[in-house]
Amino acid sequence: MKTLSRRDLLKTSLLAPAAAAAQGMSPIRAAIQAVGETHSPLPTTARHDFSISGAGRERLLLDFGWRFHLGDANDPVKDLGFGSSTTGNFQKTGNFLPAGNVAYDDGDWRSVDLPHDWAVELPFQNDPALQSKGFYPLGRTYPATSVGWYRRIFELSADDANKRIVLEFDGSYRETMVVFNGFYVGRHSGGYDPFSFDVTGFANPSGRNVLLVRVDATSSDGWFYEGAGIYRHVWLVKTNPVHVKQWGTFVTSQVRPGEAALTIRTELENHGKGEQRARVISSILDPLGKEVGKAGTDSVSIPEGGERTLEQKIAIKQPQLWSLEERSLYTLVTEVKSEGDVVDRYSTTFGIRSIRFDAEKGFFLNDKPVKLKGTCNHQDHAGLGAALPDAVQYYRIRKLQEMGCNSLRTSHNPPTPELLDACDELGMLVFDETRMMSSNPEGLGQFANLVRRDRNRPSVFMWSMGNEESQANAGKGVYILTAMKSLATQLDGSRPVSIAPTGAIGTGGLAVCDVVGYNYMDPEAEAFHKAHPERPVIGTETVSAVGTRGIYITDPDKGYVGSYDPYTTTGRASAEGWWSFCNARPWLSGGFVWTGFDYRGEPSPNGWPNINSQYGIIDICGFPKDSFYYYQSWWTEQQVMHLFPHWNWPGYEGKEIAVWVYSNLDKVELLLNGQSLGTKDVKKDSHLAWIVKYAPGAIEARGFKDNKLAMTAKRETAGPAAKLVMTADRREVSANGEDVAFFAVQVQDAQGRVVPITDNLITFKVSSEGKLIGVGNGDPTDQESDKGTSRKAFSGLCMAIVQTTKTTGTITVEAAAPGLESTSVTIASKAVTLRPQVPVWERQIPVGSGTTGLWRPAPGATGATGLMAFLVGDGTTVFTLRQDGSTLTGSVEGMGGGFFGGSDAAIPIEEGKVDGQVVSFKAGNSTFSGTLKGDQLELIRKIDFSRWLSRIPKEPTGPLPAIGPPPDGSDPSFNIPSSIPPGIPVVLRRVQR
Ligand code: GAL
Repeated sequence: MKTLSRRDLLKTSLLAPAAAAAQGMSPIRAAIQAVGETHSPLPTTARHDFSISGAGRERLLLDFGWRFHLGDANDPVKDLGFGSSTTGNFQKTGNFLPAGNVAYDDGDWRSVDLPHDWAVELPFQNDPALQSKGFYPLGRTYPATSVGWYRRIFELSADDANKRIVLEFDGSYRETMVVFNGFYVGRHSGGYDPFSFDVTGFANPSGRNVLLVRVDATSSDGWFYEGAGIYRHVWLVKTNPVHVKQWGTFVTSQVRPGEAALTIRTELENHGKGEQRARVISSILDPLGKEVGKAGTDSVSIPEGGERTLEQKIAIKQPQLWSLEERSLYTLVTEVKSEGDVVDRYSTTFGIRSIRFDAEKGFFLNDKPVKLKGTCNHQDHAGLGAALPDAVQYYRIRKLQEMGCNSLRTSHNPPTPELLDACDELGMLVFDETRMMSSNPEGLGQFANLVRRDRNRPSVFMWSMGNEESQANAGKGVYILTAMKSLATQLDGSRPVSIAPTGAIGTGGLAVCDVVGYNYMDPEAEAFHKAHPERPVIGTETVSAVGTRGIYITDPDKGYVGSYDPYTTTGRASAEGWWSFCNARPWLSGGFVWTGFDYRGEPSPNGWPNINSQYGIIDICGFPKDSFYYYQSWWTEQQVMHLFPHWNWPGYEGKEIAVWVYSNLDKVELLLNGQSLGTKDVKKDSHLAWIVKYAPGAIEARGFKDNKLAMTAKRETAGPAAKLVMTADRREVSANGEDVAFFAVQVQDAQGRVVPITDNLITFKVSSEGKLIGVGNGDPTDQESDKGTSRKAFSGLCMAIVQTTKTTGTITVEAAAPGLESTSVTIASKAVTLRPQVPVWERQIPVGSGTTGLWRPAPGATGATGLMAFLVGDGTTVFTLRQDGSTLTGSVEGMGGGFFGGSDAAIPIEEGKVDGQVVSFKAGNSTFSGTLKGDQLELIRKIDFSRWLSRIPKEPTGPLPAIGPPPDGSDPSFNIPSSIPPGIPVVLRRVQR
């Protein structure tokens, strides 16, 4: 691994800015990745800067090359033996389960790459109990689909012998148990907070290591879809014994005229032998990668197994502030020196900016007022469930920005780090929420992890301690929220805390919040402000309007809600109702609309057949609903004209239809088939409406600004569906096996107009260097699999989500539907440096003639059970055979160790011979002999028990006394096996793993 010096960084940064600017990324990030050490070069893939390589630190992506198998929450046999009452899994260390061995036969496990969510692969079940889970069968009553097992083998090198080896999980849903090389390592309960395990003591440097993970999604947190499985990244982190602790750097800045005073806290850990001395050198690189500040500490001592926190101050002249428009990202490079050597180098991305809330004037970023035009969002997406490749985070943030959204609430859980990367880089403020509002160790642990992980992010402006917790307003809430707030102050202290409350504003525990939140209760918030003019207020959750994209008639039986804005959740505001209220009140900092995107679960206002919610301003694929343009009109500066509904209403001739226009121009004239229906003045934060008697043809809106025609919007009655037209959101993607492009399909008539009322079944074919990872259409009632290869058009649209492979080339996606002209789009998948990752491990299959190959005992072929099955080696033994003429060499894995196995060391084959079909060889204490019959090797295994037999006490020779031992000193209590089997039949079959 190349060592990345600061010099390298500076050198490469000279070349970086132009390329970086072209890609829309910060040049320092480009500089770091230009040396090929940490990041993929596309702005749409993660650039997760907690560490850079060098000085003994490596942070390797462990996403590729996993194997997956469903377990069972009720049946230990189907759950790999976990929970079996005959063998306590926790009884001995190092032999947790057979699947924890390298040699274990996972041939019937499926290959998967992370992030992975198995819930979205399951068939929907019409069970009202599953409503909140999106009708996916998870939970106590669905044990067969609620547990998943993951396995990943990887190698460590001899150099790793002196390293700390840590496995970091960004998030896994839920109850995750980790077994490493057969050793039970630990469990983590939460489904959203990151966790890690130091596995140094269980690792095999210079050898193979097997990671086994059980994920149990039986219990759940939410009333919304949460997914199941390792749905975020996993990392293998190697460091020297003295190193920066995970998330152990923290930069805060005080912005003054012409200067920013930085305070840097660095936490060091000593896992080495004895006390160690170390010093920290902190360098600050500006957004162009130029060093603009540096400071070093004195050498300090860190006790063995202990920690030490050091503080430094660095002043930055003329800082470039992070803002929504200029996402200036600085880098702190932390070098740890011990005994004169740099033993760790750790990089932290941060931004310099100031935030404050003013009770009268709202929120300020860098002393400029910013009204928070926010949305709440859950984390799942069409086609993918909760397992979003990083590129999807960027896609979603850009979609939200298109409508003018400038802030996001990560309702109701800690987000994945790449969502925050996208927010830092694209300019979106984040109200960062924890999952569990509690002062119990788990709740405080989750919150502490959130704060420590995210405290350097300029996008994060406030911590959310929870959502709609009725206890928050009550007595216990004071205790809990005081504890949580004091944790946030201790670990951060530079951001306010709040909570999204229910039923009350500012009472009980809510009083401890720095900023007073309210969910939905606009009039009560106004009253609160009047009574407490000194308290800043924010709409932590607002609106909850519902609507189905492209649908205008509410039909509960079908599960659709018309897209007109007043259709909101009972008692809650419409988009217009809330925003006109909010925008008219400077004291109100803004708010977070429920929700930006549709999400699975919570299929309000209907149950089945709805499988996803309809609160989104954007559907679950990313197709905008009509209300998107309401927000775009009043949240952006661009000129907007949006006219709806569509104009295909067969059977409605002569009937009245409400025609709406969202526009921020001065006036709009509406015309039906060229006839003016009148001009109306646009009212700020409002919409325009006409009642029109339907006649097929064209409805058109003409918008005027300063009395000049500025824009028109037209809906024409489309003819029958004739063709498919597809567009990709990107023309070029990265060939890194991670990047993603979205292929959106429109069904058009012969004249190229979208047909809004058609549902043709569209089949996708992806060729060359891409793989189809999901399909969707935004229909909240569509129960086809998101993992299929076809999808019906919904209101004329559907989508394929395609991921790159690691091979450079092109990706061609074809879309076809019976009777329609098909379409295809080709994009380029360009070569990139892969981010550092753990190579995919595959067992080498020897190639050659005769018996050459991989062999495993054919499951159950000998009918052996219990001890005999163990001796046959069912499931945990693999034979690697190489035949050269009549000579046989190779090895057997899984036969070593004690009675319960446990050692995967390959035992070499000795005295191997092949004579025609007759085969014989020795391995360890066993001799195998038999015949090759087609693809089977039928062998007899003879085990040399002589060492063992020699220890068996002699049988008493003389008569036994009625009570007590025989006079010859022998031990009759030992139960001598009456017969040791002379030979154990073993049938081997050829395998590929
Ligand atoms: C809120 C809740 C959200 C969602 C929303 C639907 O009260 O916080 O999670 O359920 O209602 O309107």
